[in-house]
Amino acid sequence: MTVIIDGRACAEKILENIKIKTSKLNKKPGLSVILVGENPASKVYVKNKEKKAIEAGFNSNVYRLPENTSKLELLNLIDKLNNEDNTDGILLQLPLPKHLNPSDFLDKIDPKKDVDGFHPINSGKLLNNEKPYVIPCTPKGIIRLLDEYNIEIAEKNAVVIGRSNIVGKPVSMLLLNKNATVTIAHSKTKNLIDVVKQADIIVSATGISNIITKDMVKEGAAVIDVGIIRGEDGKLKGDVDFNNIKDIAGFITPVPGGVGPMTIAMLMENTLELHLLRNNLC
Ligand code: GUN
Repeated sequence: MTVIIDGRACAEKILENIKIKTSKLNKKPGLSVILVGENPASKVYVKNKEKKAIEAGFNSNVYRLPENTSKLELLNLIDKLNNEDNTDGILLQLPLPKHLNPSDFLDKIDPKKDVDGFHPINSGKLLNNEKPYVIPCTPKGIIRLLDEYNIEIAEKNAVVIGRSNIVGKPVSMLLLNKNATVTIAHSKTKNLIDVVKQADIIVSATGISNIITKDMVKEGAAVIDVGIIRGEDGKLKGDVDFNNIKDIAGFITPVPGGVGPMTIAMLMENTLELHLLRNNLC
């Protein structure tokens, strides 16, 4: 029987725990989020992050900057937040407008305030199997779900579909560091069916609706869907053909209610961890 992984319940449990820990601190952890432009999905994500940060008892600051923000203006804001004592975590919401190159800014965030774990020092530590200051939120949430449901990683075949810096690459490193045999598939991969069919763990992070179909899934596999796509009917759906796969998979995450809530919970956990680190409380 297939287990539907309940990311919402798992995230709620984590957030409750964070709230309790935060209530015992002398100072509130501070999360500063920068949103440049009008990307509709980003606006929703940022609003959610703001809401959860406030519920956790954090200082939450959101900087909403216009689409035509210059490189210098954004660098100045990052510099200000790097030097602001009340800010423990800085998140630059991606994607940025076309005229701004993410790496020009992610490299400038203090690695000890890099709540996304995207700074080259943090991604480098992950690559070297050293402990980064924090681990990127979505990949960390995926591993937490696998652990929570006692899904073995070591010695298993994991296939990650998507090679983004936000999800595909870091989750591949985390799985590899936990001794999975990892394949990263992407838009140029030939015979995706044959590649995915080998997987005990499938992590799909493409944003392409129904890219993972029933014929690709080995019986009993754990299927983790990172896609968030707004369908024509207005409903959210993922990369995975959930209805046709749910009786073959051993475990499957729904969209919504799977990986999404875990990303936000991990963001709050990372903010708390950076606060404890900066205040020598861990
Ligand atoms: N855009 C989509 N996911 C993320 C994320 O995890 N962090 C940031 N900064 N931007 C995103």
